[in-house]
Amino acid sequence: MSAYVIGGGRPLSGSVRVHGAKNSVLPILAATILSGKESEIHNCPRLSDVDSSFRILRRLGCAVRREGDMVHIDSGPMAHTDIPDSLMREMRSSVVFLGAIVGRFGRAMMSFPGGCELGPRPIDLHLEGLRRLGVVIEELPGGNLRCHTDGLAGTEINLAFPSVGATENIMLAASIAQGVTRINNAACEPEIEDLQNFLCAMGGRVTGAGTSTVLIEGSQNFRSAKHSIIPDRIVASTLMACAAVAGGDVTLEDIEPKHIGTVISTLCEAGCEIDIRDNALRIRRTGRLRSMRPMRTLPYPGFPTDAQAPIMAVAAFAEGTTVFVENMFDSRYRHVGELARMGADIKVEGKVAVVCGVPKLYGAPVCSTDLRGGAALVAAGLGAEGETVITGLEHIDRGYECLQTTLSGLGADIVRTED
Ligand code: UD1
Repeated sequence: MSAYVIGGGRPLSGSVRVHGAKNSVLPILAATILSGKESEIHNCPRLSDVDSSFRILRRLGCAVRREGDMVHIDSGPMAHTDIPDSLMREMRSSVVFLGAIVGRFGRAMMSFPGGCELGPRPIDLHLEGLRRLGVVIEELPGGNLRCHTDGLAGTEINLAFPSVGATENIMLAASIAQGVTRINNAACEPEIEDLQNFLCAMGGRVTGAGTSTVLIEGSQNFRSAKHSIIPDRIVASTLMACAAVAGGDVTLEDIEPKHIGTVISTLCEAGCEIDIRDNALRIRRTGRLRSMRPMRTLPYPGFPTDAQAPIMAVAAFAEGTTVFVENMFDSRYRHVGELARMGADIKVEGKVAVVCGVPKLYGAPVCSTDLRGGAALVAAGLGAEGETVITGLEHIDRGYECLQTTLSGLGADIVRTED
């Protein structure tokens, strides 16, 4: 079993580069299917979710080759349209392949991605959007989805909620449909804009991403494309949380400050000094952390649900009380019990968590229960007194590239054991 062993109490210092965004690269890897040509994706992070996408692409018949942070995909040889259940279960985002496969081949077969560690994760909005475009979707016993279409046709789709994944799935299928699709109440996350930019690089005609209305003019003439993935705003937020908890002076390079505005203002409120210059951010913390105003997780540009857990680690050390309201997912407080083992004072009732900051947390054996919850434990371990041993690293590996190497490069006492 892998574990991080962290000796807490060392301030962080130095510079670190933030890798490409997991939530951008996953739908973009799915989008490479549409062209039937070659795609070159730069700044592709080394994450287990990315490896899962490679396995799906290879299983479908695509050629995938990685060279450093560049990935070359040739979707020309793709011959299969079904994704086996074992691959679907590796990550929930596998569902974003649906729009691309059914768009290019007129058929697709895959299992429901099912629930996950954050609670039930329905895909009704994905399916409803694809049906509106002309996909016939049969939900078979055993949790399988059999999809086919005689031709996709652009239409107007009103999303009941600005779901990131549904917006992406619809964008993928609509890019190859006949006519124009308009998505109202679309998700506005920066990753949607990155997907738009990649689709346009392939010859697609998509506008409006980043606003709540996305317009997609279908195209059948895609070309080979090159694209570089945007920096991961959640990794940037997590490293800021680590610097806030551990104290010190850290510079993050290759970030997009406008994507992390709410997290920056939150950490300033907590007493961190943050300076931004172009695509770099310097964060310093010397005095005691202070409590923050209530944090309500919301779709972008609101406070990101993915930053809730790492920022809760900050609140656990802060003087005063910080309230969190988790509006996006039902089970996104599973890190709370683990933080409590380290001495954090947190009460949860439904969507609300009340964090009464304590002067000290103490190292303990804890288990990462989900991706961002795991990151919160790492941040807490850096500030705790004594040794913290974190297991369940398979969650952290889904979204952070060699987190221990990044943090030890900043002076943290963290090692990964593999016994
Ligand atoms: C994406 C991100 C994830 C982030 C989340 C919210 C990726 C790979 N993952 O996940 O890191 O936490 O956005 O910012 O990009 N919902 C439905 N029906 C649907 C789809 C969603 O009810 O068909 C609900 C979900 O259960 C959830 C909410 O809508 O409560 C938000 O989900 P969504 O925006 O779709 O998140 P994901 O795309 O799964």
